[in-house]
Amino acid sequence: MFEERFESRLAARKKAGLYRNPPEITKRQGKYIFAGSQKILNFASNDYLGLGASSELSNKVAKNFKTYGASSSSSRLVSGNYTVISRAEREYAQYFGYEDALFFPSGYQANIGVLSTFFEKGDTIIFDKHIHASSVKGVALSGARFLGYNHNSMTHLEKRLAANHETRAAVITESLFSMDGDFLDIENLERIKREYGFLSIVDEAHAMGALGQGGRGLARSVADIAVGTFGKALGLFGAFVLLPNGFKEYLFNFSSPLIYSTSLPEAHAASAIDILEIIYRGDGLRGSLRDISHFMKEGLKKSGIPVMGDAHIISVEIGDENRAVAVAGGLFEKGIFVFPARFPTVPINRAILRVSMTSLHTEEDVLLFIDTLKEVLSDVE
Ligand SMILES: Cc1ncc(COP(=O)(O)O)c(C=O)c1O
Repeated sequence: MFEERFESRLAARKKAGLYRNPPEITKRQGKYIFAGSQKILNFASNDYLGLGASSELSNKVAKNFKTYGASSSSSRLVSGNYTVISRAEREYAQYFGYEDALFFPSGYQANIGVLSTFFEKGDTIIFDKHIHASSVKGVALSGARFLGYNHNSMTHLEKRLAANHETRAAVITESLFSMDGDFLDIENLERIKREYGFLSIVDEAHAMGALGQGGRGLARSVADIAVGTFGKALGLFGAFVLLPNGFKEYLFNFSSPLIYSTSLPEAHAASAIDILEIIYRGDGLRGSLRDISHFMKEGLKKSGIPVMGDAHIISVEIGDENRAVAVAGGLFEKGIFVFPARFPTVPINRAILRVSMTSLHTEEDVLLFIDTLKEVLSDVE
């Protein structure tokens, strides 16, 4: 009944170079993954500090699961509201400098849970057009009026605010953008916020742990609410929302994605506390990440390859979707994994190679990447 539609949609995706078909990974070993017996250098992981691949963290997590068991076996709102989770949330709020914190099973769920619950008909949400798909979904589900502003254009944002000053407004953005790899213009956003007084929500998924003093992210000065994820620099899974007093109580009472979903287990919260300790003393890892990312970006630029990115997410502009797939495929054959990001993850005809750096990469890895990319680019039309 539905098969015909599925088949024709998939065929159209294939033709347009938009088909998704991830390689099957048989094993992970630090910065390498294995596809069958082929060993591949991974530039497509968000394990920015190498914690997700570290034995230090996996030993701690294993111990926590042994101590606390495998599952919370309930929603947070029924019998899943454990002391260790509340304690971990208090420690996260304190470390990151917010009044309160709330854990969610994933960043996707956090963005949907927060945005669809806090806003409703009569409110206006103004958002950067390059925010993550989960935020777009949350905004759409809220019932609020929503308006996009051009990526990182504070002039466009200001125009939108000036035209909508009579409504309750919220601004949604990211601090390190997940695909473009550029930073939010924090200074100008602060200035505009002082003038218009909106509620600001900043998704710091790619910054928390990796950037800012002690890995505290970039946007504390401007964010009323921040979203961090455990699945990237923090090396685990799940997400934490940092928020003002009273907002958590509201989510507990009105947020479907929180109320009707099994909470993360106690072992997760205990591991989150362990991770905070690692992040606190992580300046060495953050320094390595910064330096190797800079080395990669400068090396690509010197080779005449068009790149964007202010930190550890570097995007190589390709444009045509089929070409991006061919280039990533060519690199894969030569033992390098990089993600060809295409519509709808990025705008149509603006495909990129999303190069994700980690503190595990070395200068030799970077030079190998650049040489191989140059070879592949000249082979692929
Ligand atoms: C900016 C941003 N926010 C949220 C998410 C979702 O986080 P999670 O992977 O924990 O669902 C991602 C992950 O890709 C992201 O890039």
